[in-house]
Amino acid sequence: MSDHEAPEVPNTGGEPGTVAVTVPRGHQAATYRHEPGAETPKLRVSKVFISYLDRAGRATEAVRDVSFDILDKPGIGEIVVFLGPSGCGKSTILKAIAGLLTPTQGEILVEGKPVEDVGRDRGMVFQAYTSFGWLTVRENLEYGLRLQGVPKAERRERSEKYLHSVGLADFADRYPKDLSGGMKQRVAIARTLINRPKILLMDEPFGALDPQTRWGMQSLLLEVSRSEDNTNLFVTHDVSEAVYLADTVYVLSSRPARILHKVDIPAFPVHDVALKSAPEFRAVEKQLLDLLYAPADAHS
Ligand SMILES: Nc1ncnc2c1ncn2[C@@H]1O[C@H](COP(=O)(O)OP(=O)(O)OP(=O)(O)O)[C@@H](O)[C@H]1O
Ligand SMILES: [Mg+2]
Repeated sequence: MSDHEAPEVPNTGGEPGTVAVTVPRGHQAATYRHEPGAETPKLRVSKVFISYLDRAGRATEAVRDVSFDILDKPGIGEIVVFLGPSGCGKSTILKAIAGLLTPTQGEILVEGKPVEDVGRDRGMVFQAYTSFGWLTVRENLEYGLRLQGVPKAERRERSEKYLHSVGLADFADRYPKDLSGGMKQRVAIARTLINRPKILLMDEPFGALDPQTRWGMQSLLLEVSRSEDNTNLFVTHDVSEAVYLADTVYVLSSRPARILHKVDIPAFPVHDVALKSAPEFRAVEKQLLDLLYAPADAHS
């Protein structure tokens, strides 16, 4: 366990009044144990280790022995948030689930089948916005549907819906170069949502957005996930965002990422901006912060 070299990072997280996560170096004790059930989960990540190799053959261990199951709750989407410090391995975990990189060791199964490549059942929104510069905003949204052979009228109907949802209806015929960073990110989000993937992988998707737009996008995500019954794996280092969105939060260690804690978030009856300053919301935020900042041996 001498491999915790994550550099100190500045506190750059999220909305005003929220706290970004930086975790002290040193051994972090875990309370989480993976106990696989008998039924086939929608997603199973089992004993996954991931190391990157550079050209000189030096290894950087990014993910260590990560295991979790996400069951398919019938009828409602589930949002599982991965909360961890910068550089710990969060994006690496999502990329492996997306099929963009192969774990060094371990298995990833979607409905019992090993992930071997990217697939339409999984959609990823990347940390850096990734729109196609040569396509208009609308063409960006419709790109995946076009590949799937969805007829033009239906493509148009669905792109209209998502253009409105992300507040870009007036920009449908513009090119990404004419948009701000936050607007480009909303194109990337809408482009993924429109394909209705069973598993949605979102890597700090709201990092570039101003607070007001960010709240709007968080609400949109809650709405989409409740109505479309997809499973959402969402990475953030913003504690407030985690509590607002999640059904379950996995708290990760600094690099190499291990799951330290699993926290079930209570079902708040109303999700609006006022919730974020409510005492019951603050209490859960504090619980997560306590877990993140706990002294090294507090859980042993
Ligand atoms: N392509 C790569 N080649 C080599 N090392 C990499 C590569 N990508 C990531 N790493 C290393 O793996 C570790 C985990 O990276 P990752 O991008 O998964 O972190 P993260 O938790 O998503 O960080 P952030 O919150 O800053 O986005 C980092 O220390 C990084 O240096
Ligand atoms: Mg990342």
